Amino acid sequence: MDEKSQKNHTLDLIKNRRTIRAYNPKTLSQDEIDAIIQGAMRAPTAGNLMMYSMIQVSDQKLKDKLVKTCDNQPHIAKAPLVLLFLADMQRWWDYFEVSKVKEKCDEIGKEFQTPQESDLLLACCDALIAAQNSVVAAEALGIGSCYIGDIMENYEIHREMFDLPKWVFPITMICYGYPKGDKNKIPLTTRFPQKFILFTNKYSKLSEKDFKDMLKDDKRKIVVKGAENMGQQLYLGKLGAEYSVEMRRSVKAALKEWLKKD
Ligand SMILES: Cc1cc2nc3c(=O)[nH]c(=O)nc-3n(C[C@H](O)[C@H](O)[C@H](O)COP(=O)(O)O)c2cc1C
Repeated sequence: MDEKSQKNHTLDLIKNRRTIRAYNPKTLSQDEIDAIIQGAMRAPTAGNLMMYSMIQVSDQKLKDKLVKTCDNQPHIAKAPLVLLFLADMQRWWDYFEVSKVKEKCDEIGKEFQTPQESDLLLACCDALIAAQNSVVAAEALGIGSCYIGDIMENYEIHREMFDLPKWVFPITMICYGYPKGDKNKIPLTTRFPQKFILFTNKYSKLSEKDFKDMLKDDKRKIVVKGAENMGQQLYLGKLGAEYSVEMRRSVKAALKEWLKKD
């Protein structure tokens, strides 16, 4: 393939990706799994520090439990490959301990800090960028994927399930598998017009008319009982729904643990 068609091929791949939630039970070969994991690991990473870890969840009992702890999503149990992406600062601070960094800081009169909010956000950036690279790698092999954002719920349970130490936070999980049936039959989801998403040089708040315009071609339907418009639908059905309330509680608990002084 020449360079130009290679470029078009990559763009086509990105444009035609859709979330796959129904999987062909066919297992993935080790070569395919390695390509997905290596794809993740080739992602850009701040300072080339790889402030993330991945856990391959292969134990069916764990997958079954994740169905429940991640807001009852049965496709998790049926996915041939499940990867948990962890924002991970534990590795570095463990290394700093064996490297006697605190002692060195004391010696030179520099404050030794433990990971703070910014370190968590940076590690989340790393983990999520790796996650998305794995999605693109999978897509290139014809393997579909589905993010599971609900892994941010039930922090205490997930912490115990996967033995997560203090400075490790499960920021996302991804299910992978060959699509069941023809994936092209799953309609591509719509996106808002670019002018509402891309601003030039400064941020622009949207007016009531802008919102109408923004949602004009949106295919979502109002299904929440009592919701009178899309704003009420999206709050009651998503950002104010029980799973979001649980996610807020869970992330608060995780942050508290991350920042706790021992
Ligand atoms: C951070 C994140 C979290 C998500 N969490 C879930 C999830 O828990 N369950 C699920 O079925 N899909 C999840 N998705 C997939 C989205 O629902 C999907 O990307 C969106 O509806 C757009 O559809 P498309 O990916 O097919 O374009 C998530 C996606 C992202 C990026």
